[in-house]
Amino acid sequence: MAKASTQYVCQGCGATSPRWLGRCPACGGWNTLVEELVKKGPRGAARGAGALGEGPARGTPVPIESIEEDAAARMPTGIAELDRVLGGGVVLGSVALVGGDPGVGKSTLLLQALAGIARRGPCALYASGEESIAQVALRARRLGLAFGEVPLGDRLQIVGVSDVAEVEQAAQIAKPTAIVIDSVQVIRSADLESAPGSVSQLREVTSRLVDLAKRTHAAVFLVGHVTKEGAIAGPKVLEHLVDVVLSFEGERGHAFRALRASKNRFGSATEVGVFEMSPAGLREVPNPSELFLAERPAHAAGSVVASVTPQTGGARAVLVEVQALVGVSGGGGRRTAQGVDTARLAMLLAVLERKAGLQLMGADVFANIAGGLAIDEPAIDLPLALAIASAARNRPCARDLVAFGEVGLAGEVRGVPRGATRLAEAASMGFKRALVPASTAERMSAADRAGVEVVPVHDVEEAIAAALE
Ligand code: TYD
Ligand code: MG
Repeated sequence: MAKASTQYVCQGCGATSPRWLGRCPACGGWNTLVEELVKKGPRGAARGAGALGEGPARGTPVPIESIEEDAAARMPTGIAELDRVLGGGVVLGSVALVGGDPGVGKSTLLLQALAGIARRGPCALYASGEESIAQVALRARRLGLAFGEVPLGDRLQIVGVSDVAEVEQAAQIAKPTAIVIDSVQVIRSADLESAPGSVSQLREVTSRLVDLAKRTHAAVFLVGHVTKEGAIAGPKVLEHLVDVVLSFEGERGHAFRALRASKNRFGSATEVGVFEMSPAGLREVPNPSELFLAERPAHAAGSVVASVTPQTGGARAVLVEVQALVGVSGGGGRRTAQGVDTARLAMLLAVLERKAGLQLMGADVFANIAGGLAIDEPAIDLPLALAIASAARNRPCARDLVAFGEVGLAGEVRGVPRGATRLAEAASMGFKRALVPASTAERMSAADRAGVEVVPVHDVEEAIAAALE
């Protein structure tokens, strides 16, 4: 087969060059040229014809209410936490990118998911580019996903791949309903000269796999390693090409893992699934609060329980322990945060200093979310402020107390959404009292309070007085 012709295109201004250049001659940008295929005809015309069925011909309008919901287009993986994050199972013909740090458990999760799909559907295919097929088979055996009493027969197939054409060929032979490609960074297209994992290759390989999904109606999962910059598979180049973007997170040394959707064309992108890595693979954690509070110290200063929705706007509340340690000054005023934003911590320290009379200047301050969950919603402000105040004054908080609320620069405690969800979770874990932003408390009915005593607070000073013993 003749090699397809390629050119280098500036990602800044669109200028083209037959050769790679370090600097774009048109706009002067450095390192902006990326290899691309010279395409004949309008490539990707089939794209956008949604994964959910074929629908009427392009260019022909039909009433929106004439479009039926296609229930068969979704398939459960059998892993409830994953299905929930996907919006109720995986959509056939869709492409999901699963990102995460190396070693977090992406291959394990997707092998478990594929085995679940294989048990239901005619055939699922694992295309491995990183590990040998013997390694993957060994893992499937060890996790009890295959080689069990009931043979899987042809239903779970595996293929070693390094070129996207090999994935296409394997899919043609096996005709799978789901395919895992592990990982997209090691797969190349022979049409491009760039190295696997480069922007050009990632784009070309992914768009071929998107075409494959649309053409064969297979659900495709792409594994993508998070790069140093924190973006999945390089400079976020893939996120707009795929239907679903999931990230799998977890702190090194902690067994707990969180799966979040940051993009989902077929459901909400606000769900979080929680897992625990065990010798028997990933286990679902139906009650994360229990896990996060399991090792809470008995009566220690600097520990406060927060009721948070781990993804802003998320449907689910989780209780986490916020910990703070305030060192004697002279340390040089070091500020270290795990699981919360360092800039947010610095802001809260300034507010506590100015509005609540705490002496924190020059003291070392450490903040941590026990268990390793990262919280990016403002409702963590109040519990974090209370943990710092508790540590600084060396006075513990009441043990049966939870808190949530945003803190403003004037020291005011501001309302947050989903008060009822947060209190229901607190009640289910046996908490009796909650510090709640006054404006949120005002909007809550007796039923919303779920039997928890609500203490409305207006500012941090008032909250500290109510919380510390
Ligand atoms: P893996 O799925 O290979 O991660 P990724 O594909 O994201 O790089 O999982 C890697 C880690 O998980 C590995 O360090 C060992 C651990 N692990 C377990 O603790 N239990 C298990 O059953 C498996 C399969 C892995
Ligand atoms: Mg892997």
